Amino acid sequence: MGSATVFRHRRPNVTQKQTLTVRDNRTGDEYELDITDGTIRASDVGKIGKTGEEPGLAVYDPGFTNTASTRSAVTYIDGDRGILEYRGYPIEQLAESSTFLEVAYLLIHGELPTKEQHDQWVHEITFHTFVHENLKSLMQGFRYDAHPMGMLLSSVGALSTFYPEARNIKDPQVRHEQIVRLIAKMPTLGAWSFRHAQGKPYVYPDNDLTYTENFLSMLFRMSESKYEPDPRLSKALEVLFILHADHEQNCSTNAVRSVGSSQVDPYSAVSAGIAALYGPLHGGANEAVLRMLKRIKTKDNVPAFIEGVKNGDERLMGFGHRVYKNYDPRAKIIKKATEDVFEVTGVNPLLEVAQELEKIALEDEYFVSRKLYPNVDFYSGLIYEALQFPPEMFTVLFAIPRTAGWLAQWLELVDDPEQKIARPKQIYTGERQLDFIPAAQRWS
Ligand code: ACO
Repeated sequence: MGSATVFRHRRPNVTQKQTLTVRDNRTGDEYELDITDGTIRASDVGKIGKTGEEPGLAVYDPGFTNTASTRSAVTYIDGDRGILEYRGYPIEQLAESSTFLEVAYLLIHGELPTKEQHDQWVHEITFHTFVHENLKSLMQGFRYDAHPMGMLLSSVGALSTFYPEARNIKDPQVRHEQIVRLIAKMPTLGAWSFRHAQGKPYVYPDNDLTYTENFLSMLFRMSESKYEPDPRLSKALEVLFILHADHEQNCSTNAVRSVGSSQVDPYSAVSAGIAALYGPLHGGANEAVLRMLKRIKTKDNVPAFIEGVKNGDERLMGFGHRVYKNYDPRAKIIKKATEDVFEVTGVNPLLEVAQELEKIALEDEYFVSRKLYPNVDFYSGLIYEALQFPPEMFTVLFAIPRTAGWLAQWLELVDDPEQKIARPKQIYTGERQLDFIPAAQRWS
């Protein structure tokens, strides 16, 4: 079903009324629908053409490209201007001066913590980083080459069996405990799924370290009695975690909200979010960027590659975004973090290729006229590779911080009196009222 033309008839009688008048040409009836916050209510559309026998009009919107599913006060994005704010604070300021745990507090609680609130929050998260030994056994049961995202989503789902009280989602104290546990245990589970593929022993958390230092310790510690990560690396990871903490109603957040709308426990809802993020259209683009850069190989090959993109032979991965029609604000910050990481790890020669691609594309009419700018994935793969992560781990590194955003959105959902169980309509296109012939008759 293609999209039909929408005719605009300009009429002089402009009023300041915040309403929409619709005439149903099937019947000649006119309807006046309220406009609130730039939206009309689908339930009001449902009143158009509704009679005793006939259902009213519905909207058809595969992929929810123009449907607001919720009111939300968590994250603001203005894609045309390249603005991203968490609870009203610009991402640039948070990445520059905050920590991931402070940002997680902000997302979950809606405001920045006082000193006491901050210290209590960090203490709680730090002391919930360990997981039950049986969960470790469960993870050890995976095949030697299990994908870390598959391990992560299964182990997060399994957490619900360790905390059955989590299903009591109406109790704010119970909710708080599960939120703390999830944010605290994600790095442990993520790091263990990384170690598993390498056949290395799982490393227990070190509660003397910060959130990102502890994660690096669980990833890379070997026989040393105390792992001391390079502060430039833990800072870069902190920045990456802040940038990935939330991004309003994207595919995985929508999955968390949709599954959460059945009032299931938050572990199950978050594992649905991880499953959504696992897909290549959502969490996998930075891996594709890396593959593309490796294929281009040197700066000299960039002009020919760009020509190929302009001829429609391929896409410039890491460029363009459904929402941002300007430089993705996260890409600017990541570019800076890339330089900091390379100071420690040595420069990845592919950086030169990436910079040349960006330079040429930003000046080229093809990209300028289509408003194609670097997105968050353009540089993040380079950082992750420099930190020695295999591509399968890239999405795990996304899921860990995004858990804070998923939980902030889940909390909003649970407390929102307007939310109902998510249950879209369909346009049925199949057969009707066929007569069933038993198998014995059909096959004889
Ligand atoms: N390279 C070349 N041309 C592009 C690119 C690109 N990366 N992205 C869009 N275009 C072109 C399209 O061919 C189209 O041109 P046309 O008007 O001549 O047909 C025009 O720009 C509009 O593109 P759409 O595909 O309609 O834009 P949409 O908003 O649907 O797609 C998307 C956004 C999927 C991100 C796209 O830009 C893309 O594929 N980018 C590369 C993959 C990527 O980096 N994804 C990560 C996104 S960020 C994230 O998910 C965390």
